[in-house]
Amino acid sequence: MFYQLTYRSRATQEISTEDIIDILRKSQSNNADKEITGCLVFNEGYFVQLLEGEKGDVQERFNVIEVDKRHDTIDILSEGESLERQFEDWTMAYLKLPDEAENKLENQVKSDLKALKEAPENPNFTSKVFWYNVHTLLDEKGFYRKE
Ligand SMILES: Cc1cc2nc3c(=O)[nH]c(=O)nc-3n(C[C@H](O)[C@H](O)[C@H](O)COP(=O)(O)O)c2cc1C
Repeated sequence: MFYQLTYRSRATQEISTEDIIDILRKSQSNNADKEITGCLVFNEGYFVQLLEGEKGDVQERFNVIEVDKRHDTIDILSEGESLERQFEDWTMAYLKLPDEAENKLENQVKSDLKALKEAPENPNFTSKVFWYNVHTLLDEKGFYRKE
């Protein structure tokens, strides 16, 4: 079983491409060491991140991420065990959503995220759908694929 954790946080500063590259570089080496995979989404000043792997490893990494000064107001949106990973080929995928959705799938992902934030009845299912649609978008746009 894999443990999956999805949280949302508020960026405390203007996030530059350099900040994202720094986060992804760190994620690439640290997460690969612990076989943690996942995805980071940046949307309208907020981060949403999925971390997946062995429960203790994910929680340990989350404890480090949580105190990072680049974000605050951290809210766990869903957590639980899953039979499979959703981003098994990625140490940390990345997607930046534009403020105004430019196509149907971006629009879908933004409304999935809204649903996830609004305390759904089944957060694990809602987050699965959200990350599934993010993955589909990334098939065109992402970077930092695991070797
Ligand atoms: C939104 C956000 C997501 C992050 N995600 C990860 C991550 O998945 N893995 C990781 O190692 N560091 C991540 N970081 C960076 C950590 O907070 C921390 O700076 C880093 O793990 C320190 O690594 P080091 O001890 O090797 O210097 C993230 C930071 C932010 C702001």
